[in-house]
Amino acid sequence: MALTTFQAELEAFAAAAQAAFIAAADADALEAARVEYLGAKSGRLKDVQKQLGGVPKEDKPAAGKAFNDAKTVVEAAFNEAKERLGSGAQATSREPFDRTLPGKRAPLGHLHPITQTIDELKDLMGRLGFTVAVGPEIEDEWHNFEALNIPAAHPARDPLENFYLSTAKVSTGKPGAAKSDAAKSDSGAPLLLRSQTSTVQIRVMENTKPPVRIISLGRVYRPDTADATHYPMFHQIEGLLIDRHVTMADLKSVLRLFASSFLGGDVHIRFRPSFFPFTEPSVEVDMSWHDDKGNLRWIEMGGAGMVDPNVLAAVGYDPEEVTGFAFGLGVERVCARRHNVTDIREFYRNDVRFLHQF
Ligand code: DAH
Repeated sequence: MALTTFQAELEAFAAAAQAAFIAAADADALEAARVEYLGAKSGRLKDVQKQLGGVPKEDKPAAGKAFNDAKTVVEAAFNEAKERLGSGAQATSREPFDRTLPGKRAPLGHLHPITQTIDELKDLMGRLGFTVAVGPEIEDEWHNFEALNIPAAHPARDPLENFYLSTAKVSTGKPGAAKSDAAKSDSGAPLLLRSQTSTVQIRVMENTKPPVRIISLGRVYRPDTADATHYPMFHQIEGLLIDRHVTMADLKSVLRLFASSFLGGDVHIRFRPSFFPFTEPSVEVDMSWHDDKGNLRWIEMGGAGMVDPNVLAAVGYDPEEVTGFAFGLGVERVCARRHNVTDIREFYRNDVRFLHQF
């Protein structure tokens, strides 16, 4: 058979096959066309391939190439038809819909573990009669330091230990205003991101008469390097109780209830003598846990103490009349301890695989 004759046969085959695939109206028709044209045993492609044997030897390479090209084109036409029918075929699938199969649940978000902890602590302390107070995250030095008995020369007020605000954000807009000045409140006092929620104690006492029984939960900021137990932004729960005849024993029983209710009945608390300018005496509060080997271990959760008379006087209370206790604990630490998280940075990596566990 001459090369030209073979090529003509090949073209006729390819045209017919493509037309058949395009014409196929459903999957069954397409399958029938496939068997007819591409079927491995008796398809028409096979017939054409057999004729290749009759082409003169010197024309074989050209004939072989033409055959392969035609085969590729026809197979592509088949795949295209299959895809076209496939998508439609699914929608009109004759498979009955099994309504007993379990459904696909839409993924649902939930509250961040720190938010959950805050909500639970509000609930817990609410049952002990503490109401929730809030204060601003941008504070003046009076509420963050002065009224808390932290005088101007105190190292805690070092600009390197705090996030003072610069004029860049709170610009007065006056052309002559000195750029290097720290941001000022309306009264001209410098402003900073609060470094502790103790600020709220002052704000509450300035506006209410004793007795006072509040907690305050919120973000605080310190230029600390992040590590397993520190983060430049973290949350504190502040507690304040002012009344007549309040003692250190009241403080300890409230914190013990806090620990056993939130962390578990077997959790102990421990006070270590310490110093805070706004309390006297002052203690560091540790809570216990058992490590893998069952050993008793302690974690520092924050500070506490009896409110310093200077603080009571600063807000206009009479230290001879009333006393009180205060405490400030790290929410991340309490939450981490509750869930056996060993690194508080995990809370802020925004890895949903971690966050979804809570
Ligand atoms: N404000 C302290 C801190 O940030 C914690 C603290 C200690 C709060 C003693 C208190 C307190 O209310 O009485 O480290």
